[in-house]
Amino acid sequence: MIQEVPGRNLALDLVRVTEAAALASSRWLGRGNKIEGDKAAVDAMRLSFNVLDIKGTVVIGEGEKDEAPMLFKGEKLGTGKGPEMDVAVDPVEGTRLLAFGRPNAIAVVSLAPKGTMYDPGPAYYMKKLVVPYQAKYHVDIKRPVAENLRKVAKAIGKSVDDLVVFVLDKPRHEKLIHDIRKAGARIQLHTDGDVAGALMAVTPGGDVDVMMGTGGTPEGVLAATAIRVMGGEMQGMLDPQSEDEKKAVIDAGYNLNHVLTLEELVKNDDVFFAATGISGGTFLKGVQFTGEGALTSSMVMRGRTGTFRRIEALHSFDKLMRISAIKYR
Ligand code: FBP
Repeated sequence: MIQEVPGRNLALDLVRVTEAAALASSRWLGRGNKIEGDKAAVDAMRLSFNVLDIKGTVVIGEGEKDEAPMLFKGEKLGTGKGPEMDVAVDPVEGTRLLAFGRPNAIAVVSLAPKGTMYDPGPAYYMKKLVVPYQAKYHVDIKRPVAENLRKVAKAIGKSVDDLVVFVLDKPRHEKLIHDIRKAGARIQLHTDGDVAGALMAVTPGGDVDVMMGTGGTPEGVLAATAIRVMGGEMQGMLDPQSEDEKKAVIDAGYNLNHVLTLEELVKNDDVFFAATGISGGTFLKGVQFTGEGALTSSMVMRGRTGTFRRIEALHSFDKLMRISAIKYR
């Protein structure tokens, strides 16, 4: 019988990082300025990482060093005292959602053992298929949309016209949307935020059954970390959206015909994931200011134990600002 003491759950520390990012960036809700909203989250996240006992390296970050002053790919994070970890950050997943006050902007972070997160290199876009765990061995991203939807429907005991598919509302998805409708399934079109879309698709009893379409590669890796914990299937294929991106990806040795499995996107399930709602939505409540502070709503997950927690926190700004350099108001 295995009698191992459950080790430290870093996700419980990690949630302070996403809470700080959400609190700081939510001040920019609907103000039309995605750059400042993102910057507020990055600054807060960076400061909060300083006290986390990991020897972390950013694998999925804000950009290359010259473009992103903080949380850039390759940046070292944490106190340097704990385990060596790959770090994926998206201080504001859905910067436009935040800037326009639309639902489902979230602050997201994940950790995986060093060397286990997929490095997207210059690949910005990835075609994704995310389905509930019951459909894990039944779908293939290379097969026609209608066939995959039929198989998902059968696996989860619904009919195709019961299904709701999350799709990003982008011109590149015109044919995908047409194919989904022709197959008889229904659609939720979102302007942004396919990490939330992926998590919705693997959440039992949620509003969405499947996520399909092309979004960011970094967002794909972040979502894969959570799906490693929650169960479900994700497949991806690099899908460059410009000739320059295509050339860079091929020159860097990536194969555009290769199907990335969940286990390739994140090779180990000893992962940690935290997300906090910024703008609010059906998925995670947004930051609610109370006058003296704010309420945040988060989810935290640990892969090794499969524990999924929802955490509601009440933050007192006066007290926090006595001990922290983060500007909460
Ligand atoms: P940002 O937060 O970086 O703006 O990303 C939002 C997002 O909608 C992601 O959820 C998605 O993966 C990606 O952008 C899609 O990119 P694009 O808007 O260029 O099609």
